[in-house]
Amino acid sequence: MFRVKKTKIPTVILKDFQKFASGYTKVHKEPDGPCVKTEIPGPKSKALFKELSDIQQCGSVNLFTDYEKSVGNYIADADGNILLDTYTQISSLPLGYNHPELLNTFSNDSNIRALVNRPALGVFPGIDWPQKLRDVLLSVAPKGCNQVMTMMCGACSVESAFKAAFIWYCTNKRGGKTTFSDEELKSVMDNKAPGAPKLAIMSFKAPLLQGAFHGRTFGALATTRSKPIHKLDFPSFDWPCAIFPHYKYPLEEHKRENEEQDKKSLAHVCELFEKWEKKGIPVAGVIVEPIQSEGGDNHASPEFFQQLQAICASKCAALILDEVQTGCGPTGKMWCHEHFNLPSPPDLVTFSKKMLTGGYYARPEFKPPQAYRIFNTWMGDPSKLILLEQVLKVIKTEKLLDLVQCTGKVLKCGLHELECEFPDKINSVRGRGTFLAFDATSPEMRDKIMGNLKKNGVLGGVCGTTSVRLRPALTFAPKHAEIFLDILKKSLQQIK
Ligand SMILES: Cc1ncc(COP(=O)(O)O)c(C=O)c1O
Repeated sequence: MFRVKKTKIPTVILKDFQKFASGYTKVHKEPDGPCVKTEIPGPKSKALFKELSDIQQCGSVNLFTDYEKSVGNYIADADGNILLDTYTQISSLPLGYNHPELLNTFSNDSNIRALVNRPALGVFPGIDWPQKLRDVLLSVAPKGCNQVMTMMCGACSVESAFKAAFIWYCTNKRGGKTTFSDEELKSVMDNKAPGAPKLAIMSFKAPLLQGAFHGRTFGALATTRSKPIHKLDFPSFDWPCAIFPHYKYPLEEHKRENEEQDKKSLAHVCELFEKWEKKGIPVAGVIVEPIQSEGGDNHASPEFFQQLQAICASKCAALILDEVQTGCGPTGKMWCHEHFNLPSPPDLVTFSKKMLTGGYYARPEFKPPQAYRIFNTWMGDPSKLILLEQVLKVIKTEKLLDLVQCTGKVLKCGLHELECEFPDKINSVRGRGTFLAFDATSPEMRDKIMGNLKKNGVLGGVCGTTSVRLRPALTFAPKHAEIFLDILKKSLQQIK
């Protein structure tokens, strides 16, 4: 059993820390720490891997999870190993495993009915659906976005937000007219203009690094710029890709260079708007992650986002903020873009992961003028909204956004200490709330760190080419941060 050593926490953080130091074990009955009994993967995991790989390509499988034994911030695997989970199902578990409030959710009949009678929401929504949308999704809507559509996953939320942007753009081009010409109606059936117009969505890549990730469906994939393997063999659109700022850390010491990075990126955005206009493929929208996540936790300043919004407005293009990974609290605010003080609300905001349902919020002008334009059979799942309602209740009653901020300070402070102690191994600690990352000095170094973390009882995540990202649940408390930091220290010490 891993023993917790005391980590030095600065007194400024200590006051906040004490507020949250206890409490979560009582609710979750979590273990005191990780417990690693076998190599990972152990014999049972290896047998399961063999069984699964006879049926499908499963090279991406990390470990086989025992969902009955996983609890709170701890994930249990098939071999009985218990790991502190800082990755939480690719950042998609808001409250950790088996939270009692969620386990109780389906103990009432009406909620079971919602589970059993899955509706085609666009055609036969339940009598409680408008109120549910208001009580749950609109209760946490980004300011100024009073429209919401539900979807199944992150990629189809992005895909649908693109369609909303194109509909809005084309309706504006028609001067607000909501009928179509005969030529449009005919040409669209041959995938040709003017019915299927040549239009583009701009996304971002990072210089020398991986870039944006917006999903793997065709439209979303055309804007994904993280890894070639996601895109190979699939036909795609000729859509522009602007350079995202590439910051140096710590931010306070590189203010001037980082401002230059913002300027360079924004100039490139403007250049691409012009270039694609000349090509006859005008840019109807720009999609951007508030923190470019899969691409390596690449950050940009509030000023960058404010200016990007102004550029989009001046070009009559929609600004789509992809909050699939950053949304629902991990940065210490419900939506990461709240950190940016945007002068006006974003046009469209996509969500999924911790929100449990996919979808997008939008300003009122993005409501399509005709039915069936953004549509599919299920359009989400009411049972996910029932779970989300509980999640939002717990976030509020347990003050989880405050907890995220407090734990984030403990984690960041500890990571800064470690980057000073091991400069030959890690650097560039960055992030907001518990949405944190650091870089290893090489991809090989990162592999060693990740291997040691797992051996020592921490399940971690990576992004970009050399980054380690933290994506714990919102219930990750300072005591979990202490355990993580001690294990990370031990893991770094073990690398000779
Ligand atoms: C920012 C962002 N957008 C979209 C997606 C796609 O979501 P999904 O995997 O649910 O399709 C992801 C997934 O990691 C993401 O991080």
